[in-house]
Amino acid sequence: MPQQSLTVIDNRTGKKYEIPVENDSIRSMDLRQIKVHDGDFGLMCYDPAFVNTAACRSRITYIDGDQGILRYRGYPIEELAEHSTYLETAYLLLNGELPDAKEYEDWIYQVTHHTFIHENVKHMMESFRYDAHPMGMLASTVAALSTFYPEAKNVMDPENRQHQAFRLIAKMPTLAAFSYRHSIGMPYVYPDNDLSYIGNFLNMMFRTTELKYVPDPVLEKALDVLFILHADHEQNCSTSAMRGVGSSHPDPYVAIAAATAALYGPLHGGANEAVLRMLRQIGNKQRVPEFVKKVKAGEGRLMGFGHRVYKSYDPRAKIIKRMADAVFEASGSNPLLDIALELERIALSDDYFVTRRLYPNVDFYSGLIYQAMGLPVDMFPVLFAIARTVGWLAQWEEMLRDPEQKIARPRQIYLGEEKRAYVPREMRRKK
Ligand code: CMC
Repeated sequence: MPQQSLTVIDNRTGKKYEIPVENDSIRSMDLRQIKVHDGDFGLMCYDPAFVNTAACRSRITYIDGDQGILRYRGYPIEELAEHSTYLETAYLLLNGELPDAKEYEDWIYQVTHHTFIHENVKHMMESFRYDAHPMGMLASTVAALSTFYPEAKNVMDPENRQHQAFRLIAKMPTLAAFSYRHSIGMPYVYPDNDLSYIGNFLNMMFRTTELKYVPDPVLEKALDVLFILHADHEQNCSTSAMRGVGSSHPDPYVAIAAATAALYGPLHGGANEAVLRMLRQIGNKQRVPEFVKKVKAGEGRLMGFGHRVYKSYDPRAKIIKRMADAVFEASGSNPLLDIALELERIALSDDYFVTRRLYPNVDFYSGLIYQAMGLPVDMFPVLFAIARTVGWLAQWEEMLRDPEQKIARPRQIYLGEEKRAYVPREMRRKK
């Protein structure tokens, strides 16, 4: 077996170093010994946006970006999407194993019995502007839950953490649905514990005068699958926010608020909303070549395309595309679908996208399905946030249990001014 190390020669000094290699990685701290002189700080790695830096060792989600593979705790995403439910997948992500029948029943019970929110949170929501974006409302109100559950600060107690996890997974749909109802000026609908997790969410979103809301089973199933696909995605921007903020040990409500904020951006979970706006802006199939030309000229991006990790078709996008037909049959087709298909066809045969290995990602088709289900565009990133909450919690839990983790604190390379003498204001001259 070849030696598991890296031999480094520092050409500044001619010195040679032996750096251990473990899991195809070296520890950045092993570079610190590489110095030009004794007072030297030592060598660091410069990696803006963590493009090639692992910040943790994780057992939760595996991605092979070249081959388009995604697995949660070892289970292929395709199998989970076909056979599992969102809540079962959530249990798997948090606990590492699929639940047996009893564990599953207890888990559903716990999540179902934490769906209500304090009436004061509802009153807080009433004070948002009529046109407040639901993602802003969600981030603020989940942060506000921190003030209702002060014991959640005790983050080193595993039982306490589990309790907050039940609450968060159960209450996110309630906060999300109330945000939506607020934005359309409709009364908030309280949770219905007889319904499934997804069925209840649809109830809180859409119920009007009916005594009992009955969700459409095709749409309920489709949303459940979409939630499975969005449940975790290893060290993405919002998960890194969750781990980074969580590393200073605040309660999980404010950490989830930070992760929600990170997800909101159009380069991350806001992309599904941006895709829909882009398709509307293109307007019809004939205008697709003109739009692609503009993207290639650097005027904007093709939203829903490209990924930091996937350099082939996103496996989640494949599942969504297959599922779209069933949803469109139940809900009626989406006229924007033709534009999306044409965009994909042209982009996948265009050198610009082929050479950069830009393929549709999870957000390219998900918005079309959400829209066909009657879900408003503003709610798309909110749906992503509900589904991702369990991923954030699983990663947070793993971080807190990892003895190697400390408060996150990256280094910088300082390129600013050397020490300067302070100049009184009246003596300052513009150069
Ligand atoms: N349209 C046009 N060009 C693109 C796109 C795109 N969507 N994505 C990347 N490129 C180009 C980019 O201009 C660059 O070209 P060049 O080498 O000539 O400068 C090259 O491809 C590499 O791009 P990058 O910005 O260095 O790649 P990244 O890994 O930093 O960015 C990304 C990844 C997802 C932010 C980016 O592909 C993007 O902005 N996509 C559109 C937004 C989107 O769909 N986001 C959802 C991601 S999936 C859901 C999630 O996990 O949040």
